[in-house]
Amino acid sequence: MESIKDYIEKNSQRFLDELFGLIRIPSISSQSEHKPDMYKAAEYWKKILADAGCNTVEIFETETNPIVYGEKTFNPKLPTILVYGHYDVMPADPLEAWISPPFEPETRDGKIYARGADDDKGQSFMHAKAFEYMVKTGTLPCNVKFMFEGEEEIGSGALKKWCAEHKELLKSDVILVSDTGMISMETPSITTGLRGIACIEVEVTGPSRDLHSGLFGGAVANPVNILCKMIASLHDENRHVTVEGFYDDVEEIGVEERRELAKSPFSVDDYKNALNINQVWGEIGYTTNERTGIRPALDVNGIWGGYIGEGSKTVIPSKACAKISMRLVPNQDFAKISELFKNHFESLAPDYVSVKVTPHHGGQAYVSPLNSPEYKAAYRAVKETFGVAPIPFRSGGSIPVISTFEQTLGVKSLLLGFGLESDAIHSPNENYPLYNFYKGIETIPLFYKYFAEEFEKR
Ligand code: BES
Ligand code: MN
Ligand code: MN
Repeated sequence: MESIKDYIEKNSQRFLDELFGLIRIPSISSQSEHKPDMYKAAEYWKKILADAGCNTVEIFETETNPIVYGEKTFNPKLPTILVYGHYDVMPADPLEAWISPPFEPETRDGKIYARGADDDKGQSFMHAKAFEYMVKTGTLPCNVKFMFEGEEEIGSGALKKWCAEHKELLKSDVILVSDTGMISMETPSITTGLRGIACIEVEVTGPSRDLHSGLFGGAVANPVNILCKMIASLHDENRHVTVEGFYDDVEEIGVEERRELAKSPFSVDDYKNALNINQVWGEIGYTTNERTGIRPALDVNGIWGGYIGEGSKTVIPSKACAKISMRLVPNQDFAKISELFKNHFESLAPDYVSVKVTPHHGGQAYVSPLNSPEYKAAYRAVKETFGVAPIPFRSGGSIPVISTFEQTLGVKSLLLGFGLESDAIHSPNENYPLYNFYKGIETIPLFYKYFAEEFEKR
């Protein structure tokens, strides 16, 4: 029988060509002008899944973006793996910072460069190709279901609802997800935690129109100045978030587990060099890995108001706005945190202005156990293909729907990501090393095999 390595070698160019076809569709979920691209991407996935060997593939319409569902279920005695991924991507701005255009994928220095190269088109595509191999060689050891959505980057609203309506269809023993990363190729890791998130928009309004800053400057409160002051007060001198009640439900991690976490290799110098910063920053009393892995955070994602075009324009703007996200840890509830933030932020506003706080989407944090059949299977598979035993790792990123899967479907997820921090997801020049792409395809069939074994043993 042809080995997975041989199969990859023979088909490597075709895999790339097919992936590039998906990447060329600019399926940016946050921008309504790309609505038609969401349908194109879903149709593209449908064909990929059908060609790879699914028995049925269907596009489910929702009130917003379509969900692609496919399956090959053939033996009720075997466990069922439900593969999840997302075909939507983040906006590509700032466009001028890209070396090659974001939706014209190209390979340079061993990496695929494009928006979605890693997150999550490149990573989810590995599953289609690994599945294709197992079908072709008759080695599929599990039933398989696929579910690809187009709203992960905007909170997975439609999928959360759709899951609740399709519990029977989605019946499975594990959800397999490649939408996270590894520490490095030398230190492979399996993601055992994700942070939750609460996304919020704030608007501060002063005078009912922009004012001449000479005629009025110094006599009317400036909403941009005030918003900046309000935002600055959201952290105290210990870099704690000052939102009242923010830490109330935070799960405190014991010394033992912190010691365990500290074992994962990390160099502050490499980190600083990679990001071009002189110093790291964060909550006093915690290491960098702890700050992203087990502690919550608050960041401004965007801020605007007044004139930002060429040259200058002397006005006191009528309004100032900001988009803010909070990263949450287990036990913190995103709806409650949104409410706490709203109350706190409103209380910060001085009389000179009015403030509006609009919570957007969010999701709960997620943790997974190390003694599950899926963790053991992933451990064995990664160890075999990387030649090094993987270590568990709590990531700072969020995939809002993962905790919903657990709550609604009662199924745990295994986060088998092959990305690297240097992949620059959400940034200009996002990339995915070919090595990781092919290594992922090589590892997935082993995961299936060992999952079937571990599941049997359980
Ligand atoms: N794939 C990422 C999340 C991720 C990346 C987790 C790397 C762990 C390691 C996902 O597409 C993402 O970016 N999620 C958003 C969610 C938000 C927009 C609701 C995030 O984390 O910002
Ligand atoms: Mn993603
Ligand atoms: Mn993302």
